Amino acid sequence: DPTPVVVTVTGAAGQIGYALLFRIASGAMLGPDTPVRLRLLEVPQAVQAAEGTAMELDDCAFPLLAGIDVLDDARAAFDGTNVALLVGARPRTAGMERGDLLSANGGIFKPQGEAINAGAADDIKVLVVGNPANTNAYIAAAHAPDVPKDRFTAMTRLDHNRALAQLAARTGSHVDDIRHLTIWGNHSATQYPDLTHATVRGTAATELVDPEWVERTFIPTVAKRGAAIIEARGASSAASAANAAIDHVHTWVTGTRADDWTSAGVVSDGSYGVPEGLVSSFPVTSTGGAWAIVPGLEVDEASRARIDASVAELVEEREAVRALGLV
Ligand code: NAI
Repeated sequence: DPTPVVVTVTGAAGQIGYALLFRIASGAMLGPDTPVRLRLLEVPQAVQAAEGTAMELDDCAFPLLAGIDVLDDARAAFDGTNVALLVGARPRTAGMERGDLLSANGGIFKPQGEAINAGAADDIKVLVVGNPANTNAYIAAAHAPDVPKDRFTAMTRLDHNRALAQLAARTGSHVDDIRHLTIWGNHSATQYPDLTHATVRGTAATELVDPEWVERTFIPTVAKRGAAIIEARGASSAASAANAAIDHVHTWVTGTRADDWTSAGVVSDGSYGVPEGLVSSFPVTSTGGAWAIVPGLEVDEASRARIDASVAELVEEREAVRALGLV
């Protein structure tokens, strides 16, 4: 039997955790031939709830689930970890300033980065879901100097999937007919969902939809979808976020299809004018195991302005965490 892959999920007792763990254990993330060992990391006051989730995982009798540990200590939780899904984060509460939000999250992602550095497996892959995801990934990576920077990623796959759904609905096509959509920048309202390279059944998307719809409807609908879900559901996106996390890791491990790319927040190598070291969303491919930023795309003037605006926000967040001494 193959050795189980150790998957650590933080925020395991939260709503995304509840939508995520069962799918990981079922094989949806790493495939039907890969057993998994789950490590659930929570804060002490949520350990009991996480243990309840672990009981339900047991009760599913998943053939691929090799074991579950529930922990409140980061060092123990990341010891030997192959895949880390950093979901637990401090949400912004009413009246909270950005500095307070970044500080609170620095207090989570700094020790987790250190724990990953200290004990994770050599092939560690990290996906940060907890917001502000890009900057939390930046903080974690900064505290894991021995881990190659390209192992730290932030989730924009939910935004990517939302963009696929909106374009498919508008063009009366299926999401699977669409290629080459991109989310650029920060996982925030400044993100840029870019369909200038997208095709729908081989036809340029820009020939199928009018620029007015792109500006007035497509971009804001994708960028503000999280708020619309909260408004409608009375709670933030959870199952779709968990699904996107599964998609992100699955694509990372198994690769993108030959004629397509996806979107992920990865550490910039300076491509497309994004300052080196920032965790920003790019068009990316994987051949199975490592992301590569798609090179050489033409960026039109309007796209340039939108990418720059979102990257400027990432630069501000980086300056803020530096000023707070978090990195
Ligand atoms: P939630 O509040 O239901 O769960 C968060 C869990 O994290 C709680 O159980 C909490 O105890 C735990 N936690 C807090 N600090 C922790 C620590 N230091 N170690 C381990 N666990 C810790 O929140 P939900 O809905 O599950 O969302 C989680 C995060 O994902 C939020 O930050 C949310 O904004 C973000 N998110 C990101 C998306 C993306 O596309 N990147 C999409 C949707 C949500």
